[in-house]
Amino acid sequence: MSWKRRLRPDSPDYLARNRAHWDDYAPRWVEMGRRAWAGKPTWGMWGAPDVTGLFERAADTDTLEVGCGTAYLSAWLARAGARAVGLDNSWRQLKTAATLQHEFGLRFPLIHGIGERLPFAAQAFDFVISEYGSAIWSDPYEWIPEAGRVLRPGGELIFLANAVLFMLVAPELDGHPAEATLLRPQFGMHRFEWPDEDAVEFHLGHGDMIRLLRQEGFEMLDLIEVQAPDGPAEVKFNVSRDWARRWPSEEVWRARKRG
Ligand SMILES: C[S@@+](CC[C@H](N)C(=O)[O-])C[C@H]1O[C@@H](n2cnc3c(N)ncnc32)[C@H](O)[C@@H]1O
Repeated sequence: MSWKRRLRPDSPDYLARNRAHWDDYAPRWVEMGRRAWAGKPTWGMWGAPDVTGLFERAADTDTLEVGCGTAYLSAWLARAGARAVGLDNSWRQLKTAATLQHEFGLRFPLIHGIGERLPFAAQAFDFVISEYGSAIWSDPYEWIPEAGRVLRPGGELIFLANAVLFMLVAPELDGHPAEATLLRPQFGMHRFEWPDEDAVEFHLGHGDMIRLLRQEGFEMLDLIEVQAPDGPAEVKFNVSRDWARRWPSEEVWRARKRG
């Protein structure tokens, strides 16, 4: 495995910033990753059940997780019988993933790379998946065409991200849970930067995302707005359970590559 692969000089500006951010942040994700590796498949921060049917359909398929982090989702796919591959921009996140592979006795390829330029041949995968990986950290106009290139006809792109509605009310600073007040426009939403961190995220409005997917050869299968299950009052990543019971804080997109 070649860790610490260099970015090309003409790479988009945000890639080095996001790589440094995630290399710094990685130690704080180890325990969460370990718990997820030990657990059963769910989606997103509220532990939604398999709303996509992915794990039931994964046996004997080639899957690529773009922005795999600690790679628990790929581990669940491998256990479901997939030939899983995880790719991530942060070598330190991949180091955690490799440690967890060792601890749990489950191996699959981990690639240091970026969703914007996938080091794979065309039509190599049946599923391309991202759970808060490239789904929010890569420019969608760069990574969704790449996902389309490496998917086989009939293959599926599945990604989970913050819901559009949540992005309109998301607080600027950590530690202030979202309220019901619109803080920013939806028109033109794309690149997001926050005052308390040197990283860049990407979120498109629904219309722009649908147009992009269609333009890149996908047909829409579903847009699942995730509702938090009933449970104890708590705040996760600036969303309270109460808020996420009333409005979608996360959404899962499913799109099929046209034949
Ligand atoms: C919140 S983690 C999500 C991964 C996984 N679901 C988890 O929770 O461990 C986000 C991951 O996306 C990766 N990432 C950021 N930008 C990326 C890019 N351009 N290409 C691939 N991975 C990227 C980060 O390095 C980080 O490991």
